[in-house]
Amino acid sequence: MKTFLVLDKTNKKKLPEHLHSADIRNPDALIEFFLEQYTKKGDLVIDIFAGFGTTLFVAEKLERIPYGIEYNSSRVSYIKSELRHKENIVHGDSRILDTFKFPKMDFAFSSPPYMHELDQEYYALTNYSTSGTYEQYLGELQKIYLDLKKYLKPNAVVVIEISNIKRKGKEITTLAWDVAKTISKVLYFEGEVIIGWKGEPSEEGIYGYGYDHSYCMVFQNK
Ligand SMILES: C[S@@+](CC[C@H](N)C(=O)[O-])C[C@H]1O[C@@H](n2cnc3c(N)ncnc32)[C@H](O)[C@@H]1O
Repeated sequence: MKTFLVLDKTNKKKLPEHLHSADIRNPDALIEFFLEQYTKKGDLVIDIFAGFGTTLFVAEKLERIPYGIEYNSSRVSYIKSELRHKENIVHGDSRILDTFKFPKMDFAFSSPPYMHELDQEYYALTNYSTSGTYEQYLGELQKIYLDLKKYLKPNAVVVIEISNIKRKGKEITTLAWDVAKTISKVLYFEGEVIIGWKGEPSEEGIYGYGYDHSYCMVFQNK
């Protein structure tokens, strides 16, 4: 498989006005690449940080069966309003993933909420609504992916889209590498794919977070 891709940072679907300001979607091309690589028609695909539903919509378009969990109720309502498999998107907290009822999946793709080491007052896994430490974040993320195994077929592939975070005058949070390391304790780490994002260079980076690229960390349920 290719380990370096250059992709367009676009989405086909137009978000409703009230969701515009928080548009943090993964581009369609990224999901298409991994679904074509690791799944076939009829396969079951889950996104445990579903956001605005990109994984679910692209999976449905490619005739895979989408499932998802999302914490934010307006994002869940939006997904329900547009998805054919409406019953498969759950409004909930992935930190209690083991309490849900899902069939065994062929593939999982997610971009977890990002956390900077210095941002303890904005804890990522409550959608930035409480405080919490970076160590707590990595620990809870590891537990979530351990619990996800309950819903994975043997050898199912799990992809995590993530980036490091570079801020002017501040130390870099090596989020991508820390997440890869912590999840590799519970799922077999196959390696990373670097995604170079097309677009106009800017101080924030084409991708954001100070970078023009992000990573897809590929794991397997071995
Ligand atoms: C980076 S976004 C995912 C974007 C998504 N890939 C897309 O293309 O729309 C991360 C999502 O995780 C959700 N989230 C945060 N904490 C969560 C939790 N504990 N359980 C489930 N979802 C959570 C956030 O509300 C946010 O929508």
